[in-house]
Amino acid sequence: MVPNPTAEPVLELRDVSKSFGPVVALRSGSLRVEAGSIHALIGENGAGKSTLVKVVAGVHRRDSGTFELGGEPVDFSSTAESKKSGVAVIYQEPTLFPDLSVTENIFMGRQILARGRRIDRQAMYAEAERLFDRLGVRIDPRRPAEGLSIADQQIIEIAKAISLDARLLVMDEPTAALSGVEVDRLFAVARSLRDEGRALVFISHRFDEVFDLADTVTVMRDGSYIETKKVADTTPSELVSLMVGRDVDELFPKVAAELGEPVLQVRGLNRAGVFHDIDLQVRAGEIVGLAGLVGAGRSEVARAVFGVDSYDSGSVTVSGKQVKANDPRSAIRAGMAFIPEDRRKQGLVIDSSVTRNVAGVIRRNIAKAGLLTTSMENRAAGPWAGRLEVKTNALDMNAATMSGGNQQKVVIAKWLATDPKLLIIDEPTRGIDVGTKAEVHRLLSELAGQGLAILMISSELPEVLGMADRVVVLCEGRVTAELDRADATPEAVMHAATHHLEDAR
Ligand SMILES: Nc1ncnc2c1ncn2[C@@H]1O[C@H](COP(=O)(O)OP(=O)(O)O)[C@@H](O)[C@H]1O
Ligand SMILES: [Mg+2]
Repeated sequence: MVPNPTAEPVLELRDVSKSFGPVVALRSGSLRVEAGSIHALIGENGAGKSTLVKVVAGVHRRDSGTFELGGEPVDFSSTAESKKSGVAVIYQEPTLFPDLSVTENIFMGRQILARGRRIDRQAMYAEAERLFDRLGVRIDPRRPAEGLSIADQQIIEIAKAISLDARLLVMDEPTAALSGVEVDRLFAVARSLRDEGRALVFISHRFDEVFDLADTVTVMRDGSYIETKKVADTTPSELVSLMVGRDVDELFPKVAAELGEPVLQVRGLNRAGVFHDIDLQVRAGEIVGLAGLVGAGRSEVARAVFGVDSYDSGSVTVSGKQVKANDPRSAIRAGMAFIPEDRRKQGLVIDSSVTRNVAGVIRRNIAKAGLLTTSMENRAAGPWAGRLEVKTNALDMNAATMSGGNQQKVVIAKWLATDPKLLIIDEPTRGIDVGTKAEVHRLLSELAGQGLAILMISSELPEVLGMADRVVVLCEGRVTAELDRADATPEAVMHAATHHLEDAR
């Protein structure tokens, strides 16, 4: 059970529940965090992690259960109350005031006053400098917050937390939008705060980060506490099975597909400073998982293969035909489809209807037949959307109001209309709830069963292990392992993904 029940916890939640109308977001959340430790909170999307955090932050009020801070029962009804009690929550994308300076953001609502009750800006700048020095980061305290990277905005939130002398810092998936270097800097800051005796809660679904940073890990599933482990006493395999609650094989009913001819052949692909000597092959009916840490170069390779970015040397062929470098049109003509990670920005025009999204790619073909009318678009889009069971009453429902899972299906539908041989998909289920996640997985599996070659990038280990026929692992822009489904254990993938770390030891 919970280790060290005698040590004094900074935070203790027991059997906390929270519902929103009929939706039970949190069934029975428990978390016990000690001073001077980094506590990872993991679980699949929708497990209730953020809801638990929002109870601690005073964003939500719990329906039942106990909540203690430093041994005292608390019941926050606002974020101001939680702040006053020494709780700081840093979200994935902080919300600073863009027009105010970095320093004004740190001291929001509690200016340092000089004699005569005038605001002492110099003292505030000096204090901000001191905070950044202590965190070992360089940010100009006088510049406006506008235009700062997400990583810098998070650091400013942390500086603010320290200036308020927070004893508990909670970070909800802070690394999702950070580069490798930025993650390293954030982790260095987190470790120094731990060493000062503060308690940190760190939410992540990345096993490498959990094993790199945390001392203790709590697993949640379906809104409930599952187990707490010392990181030193557990393994990625154990955490995967605690997270999914059953064997990976059961969760991802993989359709055994006949593997056909090689569709994608990537040979010796290089881009200075980004990736090196990348060899990849995907056969018809095969799902190849591209695994690795943040910054390993997975998305960069995918973008180069599709031609959105260029490469210095090497070659890309589809069914034996060479694809021109840096030319997505050539890639599409060769039979490639590409669904980038940020669907909202790149893959799907959010403000157009489902029909337009699905028809967009084939618009040119329809237009050839003469006049382009809405009814023609509907006819073209209908069968594809139907085949993918896009759950919308009418095809003209606005894409922005659809769930993440349905949006993802619309994007896939749009591409299927081009009759691709190869689908490259980056983080297929990011931001999608557990229920629809399974549908996206089933769909990909079915499409592979029908002979589509799929190259799938995913940071979620269970997804890679569950879906892929073969796993190619990248580390610092190089292929460090190629594992058949049977050999692709969490340990083997993690080991290859952290190749450079092993060598450095
Ligand atoms: N404000 C809300 N209203 C309705 N449902 C919510 C709300 N917040 C979260 N949920 C639901 O509660 C469940 C848990 O969500 P969340 O705590 O965000 O999970 P996690 O952070 O682990 O991904 C999900 O099914 C989510 O859709
Ligand atoms: Mg969350």
